[in-house]
Amino acid sequence: MELSLLTIIYLVAAVTFILGLKMLSSPASARKGNLIAAFGMVLAILGTIFFYRDEEGKVLHNYLWIFGGLAIGSGAGWVAARKVKMTAMPELVSLFNGMGGACAALISLIEFNHLSHSAGNLSAVSGGTLLIIFLGLIIGSISFAGSVVAWGKLNGRIKDFSFKGQHWINFIILALVVFLVAFILISRPETSGMLFYAVLFLSLLYGFFFVMPIGGADMPVVISLLNSFTGVAAASGGFLYDNKAMLTGGILVGAAGTLLTILMCKAMNRSIFNVLVGNFGGGAAAATGAAAGGARAVKEITASDLAINLNYSKSVVVVPGYGLAVAQAQKTVKELEDVLEANGVEVRYAIHPVAGRMPGHMNVLLAEANVPYPKLVDLEEANEMLAQADVVLVLGANDVVNPAAKDDPTSPIYGMPVLEVWNAKLVVVVKRSMGAGYAGIENPLFFHDRTKMLFGDAKKVLQDLVNEVKAL
Ligand code: TAP
Repeated sequence: MELSLLTIIYLVAAVTFILGLKMLSSPASARKGNLIAAFGMVLAILGTIFFYRDEEGKVLHNYLWIFGGLAIGSGAGWVAARKVKMTAMPELVSLFNGMGGACAALISLIEFNHLSHSAGNLSAVSGGTLLIIFLGLIIGSISFAGSVVAWGKLNGRIKDFSFKGQHWINFIILALVVFLVAFILISRPETSGMLFYAVLFLSLLYGFFFVMPIGGADMPVVISLLNSFTGVAAASGGFLYDNKAMLTGGILVGAAGTLLTILMCKAMNRSIFNVLVGNFGGGAAAATGAAAGGARAVKEITASDLAINLNYSKSVVVVPGYGLAVAQAQKTVKELEDVLEANGVEVRYAIHPVAGRMPGHMNVLLAEANVPYPKLVDLEEANEMLAQADVVLVLGANDVVNPAAKDDPTSPIYGMPVLEVWNAKLVVVVKRSMGAGYAGIENPLFFHDRTKMLFGDAKKVLQDLVNEVKAL
């Protein structure tokens, strides 16, 4: 009776995961989708705690440990998620993802010890079970170590690090891991216990070396890839425990992470191989970019002149970027939209698929300020719209409007699809300085004939613009 009830609970949980994931694809339903999937997860956890029976029909009994662990984990997660700034979200995602990988690896570690002790000797354990244990261990450890490095890089605690031939070392470590696992599976030596820890150590080392050289604009892609690793590692745990909810959840995370990785690479027009071994961005490019930019002059515009331009335009296109999120200016940009539209100006938003620091960053940000979804225009359609615009307001965006991606074959972002803002009648770039964007490269847009710069914090500049337009 209890077993079938647990199966039904897992089925309901799996359905909520799928529904939740589906609802995440639109900002309108994303919040609800997240809550539905979280409800399913709580159901699956409580169902396991109260209805699980082992082969002898015994229930779980160590409730103090279970609820103690749950309270600590949920408390830490709750506080971290409540306190995190929108701009630090990718870091948090990376850290949470790392914890998922660590859990999967720990499950493998515990099950390996449990099986080798209860079976007395490893030869009695089936090859399939051992293989799943190793998959969880290897993929989970890589995901854990890689995610922690990614977290450190995103918040500036860890710098990019690579040396000549590093990819070969990575390859050798991976080959060694595969060799050791094959050796244990085939020969089941006396030293299996020790070799198991060697596999754990080498996998952690691989995760570390794998992410260390990757930098600049490629970090979100790596995080998404590590996310899919964690999903696969969790699915291995699902196999091991014959737990359908864990299996479905893991597979969904694995598949969604893989798809997201592919979509992000496509949006940047880069192959996954290129991302993993390409050493994009980084300090050298940033330094040259900033130095080269220093010599040329830019044209500036004042807030009052820009307000007049905006107010007497027919069509204004806003290009939001990471800086808008940093300034938390989403509500002020909506205010500007409202005052301009009240004066008969059409305002729309051109959204680049990788603007900001995570997928859908700009959509979420603008949804928070109640900008209607039909006003958000995707890259391809936006490029047609931009050519017709009277004024384009680039708000804290940089790499996603860089013309070098189209016309400078030597640029590291060459080939990446960008918003062609320079085709509009007037482009105004709002940012605090001549500093580079995430990719660390110079932006020739700032020196373009039709571009004017308005230096300042995006929120402050937008507030000035709202006041100026109101005063006209
Ligand atoms: P960025 O190129 O990073 O440029 C952001 C600009 O905002 C900076 O140049 C900065 O200039 C400005 N800024 C910062 N704080 C500001 C503030 N308070 N007020 C006004 N301006 C401010 O941003 P983007 O154009 O959105 O491009 C995103 C980057 O992330 C791309 O390189 C993209 O490839 C990469 N990326 C994103 C994703 C996803 S999924 N979103 C995935 C992979 C890669 P100042 O310091 O001078 O103000």
